[in-house]
Amino acid sequence: MTYSSKTKQQVSQITEKLIVALDVESAEMAHTVIDELQGVIGTYKIGLQLFTSAGPGFVRELAESGVKIFLDLKFHDIPSTVAKAAVEAARLGVWMLNMHALGGSEMMKTAAGDVREACVKDNLAVPKIIGVTVLTSSNERALNEIGIERKVEDQVLDLARLTAKCGLDGVVASALEIAPIRNAIGRSDFLIVSPGIRPDFATNNDQKRVMTPEAALKAGSDYLVIGRPVIDAPNRLSAVESILADMEAVSE
Ligand code: C5P
Repeated sequence: MTYSSKTKQQVSQITEKLIVALDVESAEMAHTVIDELQGVIGTYKIGLQLFTSAGPGFVRELAESGVKIFLDLKFHDIPSTVAKAAVEAARLGVWMLNMHALGGSEMMKTAAGDVREACVKDNLAVPKIIGVTVLTSSNERALNEIGIERKVEDQVLDLARLTAKCGLDGVVASALEIAPIRNAIGRSDFLIVSPGIRPDFATNNDQKRVMTPEAALKAGSDYLVIGRPVIDAPNRLSAVESILADMEAVSE
């Protein structure tokens, strides 16, 4: 079955797993991308570049228009600062937010607890709270450079275990680490969000640990985050359709 012959429900189950990273320099450019992918993509990741340029008002406006937003600001600071920032992110109406698991258990627990409490108190939807393990742009050498003398996978697994212990909803991790994470963590509802996804037509850019969309889903990833292969494509809609077709191959 080709992507275009799927039912609407099948299509939405596939597209919901694809998060396009809006790694662009302005609100105007972000709107151009969203318009081009209108009706196909409903979830976008807003990271440091766009948040710094377009600000929280833009995030709120987009969330109010019905777009699901993964606010990827990778908080990492003292527990109370991260907790307060995460509560403000929840108030913007984002669907998912994240923090570095390297910030430790006190930071993660305080932030998750405060966000959930604030959402109940103010009647807000509780965002999914995700821990970042090891960036997909890092390899063993990059870890060694900052004094972490161990294998990437061991570091990822320990951080994933800590994240689960702190009651977060899941982790951001390379698709290459999904199987060991699933083995290490008994929770079937533990989400794995995978960047570093490269369709066959794209280059790796600075990502060092990459997988194709189909392989990442087969490995058990819940959400795929894809930026440059879509954003830099000459025809973004065609790029997304080709990625969705690749993802679709999993259910055939
Ligand atoms: O362009 P590309 O597909 O490599 O974009 C991946 C996106 O995912 C970027 O916005 C990057 O900041 C983000 N990300 C990542 N690795 C993580 C967490 C987030 O690449 N561990």
